[in-house]
Amino acid sequence: MNEPVLRQHAEEQYAEELALLTAGDERVRPPGWRMSPQAVVTYLLGDGDKITPKYVGPRRLIEVAVATLATDRALLLLGVPGTAKTWVSEHLTAAISGDSTLLVQGTAGTAEEAIRYGWNYARLLADGPSDAALVPSPVLRAMRGGAIVRVEELTRVPSDVQDALITVLSEKTLPVPELNTEVRARRGFNLIATANDRDRGVNELSSALRRRFNTVVLPVTRTAEDEVAIVVRRVAQLGRALELPEVPAAMEEIRRVVTVFRELRSGMTEDGRTRVKSPTGSLSTAEAISVITNGMALAAHFGDGILRPGDVAAGILGAVVKDPVSDAVVWREYLETVVRDRPGWLGFYRAARDV
Ligand SMILES: Nc1ncnc2c1ncn2[C@@H]1O[C@H](COP(=O)(O)OP(=O)(O)O)[C@@H](O)[C@H]1O
Ligand SMILES: [Mg+2]
Repeated sequence: MNEPVLRQHAEEQYAEELALLTAGDERVRPPGWRMSPQAVVTYLLGDGDKITPKYVGPRRLIEVAVATLATDRALLLLGVPGTAKTWVSEHLTAAISGDSTLLVQGTAGTAEEAIRYGWNYARLLADGPSDAALVPSPVLRAMRGGAIVRVEELTRVPSDVQDALITVLSEKTLPVPELNTEVRARRGFNLIATANDRDRGVNELSSALRRRFNTVVLPVTRTAEDEVAIVVRRVAQLGRALELPEVPAAMEEIRRVVTVFRELRSGMTEDGRTRVKSPTGSLSTAEAISVITNGMALAAHFGDGILRPGDVAAGILGAVVKDPVSDAVVWREYLETVVRDRPGWLGFYRAARDV
């Protein structure tokens, strides 16, 4: 079952958990859903037993998100980078539709074909417009299959392209004038869009489109303990997937990275005593995960197999200093005013200064 692919889709990786939830699920399922809304929430938050938590955060948010998908409104997940918008939407679609692959990646270059349909030009020229010449978008395939489609970074998509979604979401139909027909969404169809808080103003959602969505804002992880727990779990999963050699006792460095990120993000040390400046980057949980994973690779392949301050220092620097001028000043100041005199942090201070 474990294909040697670099990354499995959620429905592959968690096939056993999904099967377990479906089998034991006697509650009402919305039309086209693989499992009940309660089971979807359990899949995301875990049950303290066989179902592992994927998302760590307020249950109510996930309940609202799942309930929305059972209505005729689409779901907009909003938040700063690294708040698990993509992650949550992948798991929601895996649980509800059993397929997380219907995905439109929104960029400034996203064209209408990515939301509606395109044409296979060889066929179009040979036979004229026909169903066989039509190349369906992920949205169209989701409508036909009664599944949930994901649109990543919706606000990066040019406004006129975004508007192609209005008919889809309000009428649940997609006209294909070339074939004098329309594709009507089967029950179970819905859409999850993600958008970045910081992109505000890039391409605002038109009010007509916004009205089709219920918005759920995913918050920055509230406590340091939650954030450490998220990093620990994801690092272990990624390490297994990448088959990195086991690197034990990483807790100290994980705590350190999370502490540094939280302090710089909030502009205040954890004891509330010292103000620090915040760098321009977002310093998300996702970046903390990647700093630790990189550190583990360094420790495993070039170190003594134990994650040490020197293995994370370069990664932290890379995450913090996005702007080579202003962020470098912020980082130096943080090192000198906070890190240098903190008990137990001398090794990290030296390593950070050396990179
Ligand atoms: N609250 C959280 N619960 C679980 N995982 C989280 C949480 N916040 C961040 N992550 C992790 O961080 C990574 C980030 O995510 P991603 O979904 O790409 O963020 P976004 O799309 O919001 O920028 C994922 O690997 C996810 O596991
Ligand atoms: Mg994302």
